[in-house]
Amino acid sequence: MRVKINGRTLSNGARPTASREPPVEPLAWLAGAHHDQLALCDSLEAIADSLPGEINRETCAYAAKVIGPMMRDLHAGEEQRVFAWIEHRFADDASVHALLERLKYEHCEDECFAEELTEMLDRLGAADRTVNAETAGYMLRGFFTSVRRHISFEKECLRGILVQHLGGKPA
Ligand SMILES: [Fe+2]
Repeated sequence: MRVKINGRTLSNGARPTASREPPVEPLAWLAGAHHDQLALCDSLEAIADSLPGEINRETCAYAAKVIGPMMRDLHAGEEQRVFAWIEHRFADDASVHALLERLKYEHCEDECFAEELTEMLDRLGAADRTVNAETAGYMLRGFFTSVRRHISFEKECLRGILVQHLGGKPA
């Protein structure tokens, strides 16, 4: 399923599966997942920039609905389709295993953060006047900064693994 925030089409992670995957396919899938998460970050940044006076309640309500499932589904896809593929290929490299564990931990942290944001976005969407705009902005910026940093780190690490082991090209 694909969803829209601020006119952007976003995926909730339910990307199509392929019965036979050429080696590059998991990385192409990851690139799409990163693209969708970065689009979500852009939408959340637009919400943060609109605080407190120009906020779109409908956008906030919609973001509250999709942010949790989308992050969980995309992370699950990354771990099942991409990390499992990498782990299988480089099973004898303990540093690869450690790196993937770190990336999974970061997924967990961002999913917890998304749950906290859900409640706040819900309240913004419902025009709850008790929401502190400064706190809401701080939470939003903390989340999308963390997700952008994670994606940058993840891409860099996977590029490093491929270059080191395969002489391959980055995701
Ligand atoms: Fe990730």
